[in-house]
Amino acid sequence: MCGIIGYVGKRDLASVLVAGLERLSYRGYDSSGIAVISKGELSAWKSEGKVQRLIDRYIKSIKISNATVGIGHTRWATHGEPTDINAHPQLSSDQKIGLVHNGIIENFAFLKKNLQPRYLFKSETDSEVAAHLIEAEFHRTHSFLQAFQKTLSQLEGTYALAIISEHDPQTLFAARLGSPLIIGLGEDENFIASDLVALIPHTRNFIYLADNEWAIISASEVQVYDQAGNRVKKAIKHLKINDSDLHQPAKGHFPHYMLKEIFDQPEILKRILSTYTSDEVELRFKSLAAHTDPLKKCEKFLIQACGTSWHAGLVAKYWLEEFAHISTEVDISSEFRYRKILARNHDILLALSQSGETADTLAGIREVRKLYNKLPVISFINRSETTMEHESDAIIPSLAGTEIGVASTKNYIAQLGTLFLFALYLGQLKGILTAAKIAEYLRAFAMLPALINKILAYRKTIKAISSRYATDKGFLFIGRGMNYPNALEGALKLKEISYLYAAGYAAGELKHGPIALIDENMPVIALIPHTSNYSKMMNNLEEVRSRKGRIIAIVTEGDKDVTAIADTVIPIPAIIEELSPLLTIIPLQLFAYDIAVALDRDVDQPKNLAKSVTVE
Ligand code: F6R
Repeated sequence: MCGIIGYVGKRDLASVLVAGLERLSYRGYDSSGIAVISKGELSAWKSEGKVQRLIDRYIKSIKISNATVGIGHTRWATHGEPTDINAHPQLSSDQKIGLVHNGIIENFAFLKKNLQPRYLFKSETDSEVAAHLIEAEFHRTHSFLQAFQKTLSQLEGTYALAIISEHDPQTLFAARLGSPLIIGLGEDENFIASDLVALIPHTRNFIYLADNEWAIISASEVQVYDQAGNRVKKAIKHLKINDSDLHQPAKGHFPHYMLKEIFDQPEILKRILSTYTSDEVELRFKSLAAHTDPLKKCEKFLIQACGTSWHAGLVAKYWLEEFAHISTEVDISSEFRYRKILARNHDILLALSQSGETADTLAGIREVRKLYNKLPVISFINRSETTMEHESDAIIPSLAGTEIGVASTKNYIAQLGTLFLFALYLGQLKGILTAAKIAEYLRAFAMLPALINKILAYRKTIKAISSRYATDKGFLFIGRGMNYPNALEGALKLKEISYLYAAGYAAGELKHGPIALIDENMPVIALIPHTSNYSKMMNNLEEVRSRKGRIIAIVTEGDKDVTAIADTVIPIPAIIEELSPLLTIIPLQLFAYDIAVALDRDVDQPKNLAKSVTVE
């Protein structure tokens, strides 16, 4: 994953680079570093831990004068532990070349073998090999530009690279293959970064590097070349961005972003309803205007996504099949891209992603493009100006707003909300749902914000319940039908922020194996609102009970039967079955949050994770 920043110009380099790294930290935060060229000499500072640790250890006390060019990196470890040495920038043996890398150099072991022992490797990273390779090529060619080009031609895998060197101390070299890299244009200064987020405080003019392109960037000029070394004339994209987009949303009175984002959910659903309906009676998806014909004819959806977004896809399958009668396959992107993808003329690919940068999901889109270049690709994305947006035929924004907590909460609700309305829209388009039926569903949808607020008002009780389970070591989550994906999502939320083991199952699967785990030490979180599966879920709860499992049940208010056999119940308001996943998920988010807080975990930036997963 990792975030890259680079700058060439006259500003205070350390502050530009460090501010950029702070904005890029969502891409990885296990270590960070910067390198600059000052008075012709390269210096680097690197630290394990978050960017703040780099600042405290070095940046606060260093004074860099007359620096011309610099690079910075915030890391999510792939090869080598998160240590000072493995942090980027990685340097050549002679310490004259520094580089930062996002991606994976897959042939690094082969290249390294050829360079050792002449070149001294210090780290365990795959990235370091590129620095030594440039040095080796420089010794052969005596031209830094040629050395850079020769190096690119030998690298296999994926990369966004930013390189500085004492051999060309006024210039930033950059290259892209598979990992995003954007050039920000200024006056007598230029920038590069993995993401616009790091550039928007400085400029509104951008050049998007395409795969296999590379660039030579000085303070006054940007030259972009293709793989063969031909100069490419790139369009400059001017973006209108509000000043409010420059600022990270504030936490307000909430102790963590995650909790704030859980509380943001009612407002997000209001926004989604008003954006995708006219007066809350008719569905409208403006971005699909050019695609109504393929949508009407669509025979099968292929959904692919990762993690929480995949869970949203699993729920959407029920809606698309029920409302639009379109058969739907849902795949985990990292599996999808490597299986035999069978699609026919009237199929459509749906990609779901909060970040719009997830490498596996992008690769799934590219694989489909390669195999079936006419198959329409519609992506549900939260962030704007992303690689996925550029590679899709149409996008449906999830409208969750900036999500900072690494564990996705409000984007999950936003994805569910947009996918529900999208499925209704298709039912409308195909004439399957009557206007009256659609109006009924929309009325129910309009009640969601108030109903979620009601669950949120129950927060103290949920906190008291959660704290009783903070010393448990493992959890099972079970659900059926449309609430089965929430069993997976509830377990994922708990695992990622509390570091406790949890697994989600379709409740009917318990007897096929996991029931062996159940005894008095095993809390079982059951999603059992009043839906068509209620009695089947009851049977499963009886099976848990007879093996002494401790049941925490999410029930519809007023439920008596579950209350009689569960250890604890968390009531949610009544709602139609089709919308029940948008309510049952709320107590699960709070449960995970409260346990993580009780265990003193880093809730917003849990260990080993990153907000945007840009490596395979
Ligand atoms: C879990 C979580 C991840 C993401 C996954 C996909 O809380 O956030 O599982 O859902 O990495 O990310 P996007 O949606 O950005 O493609």
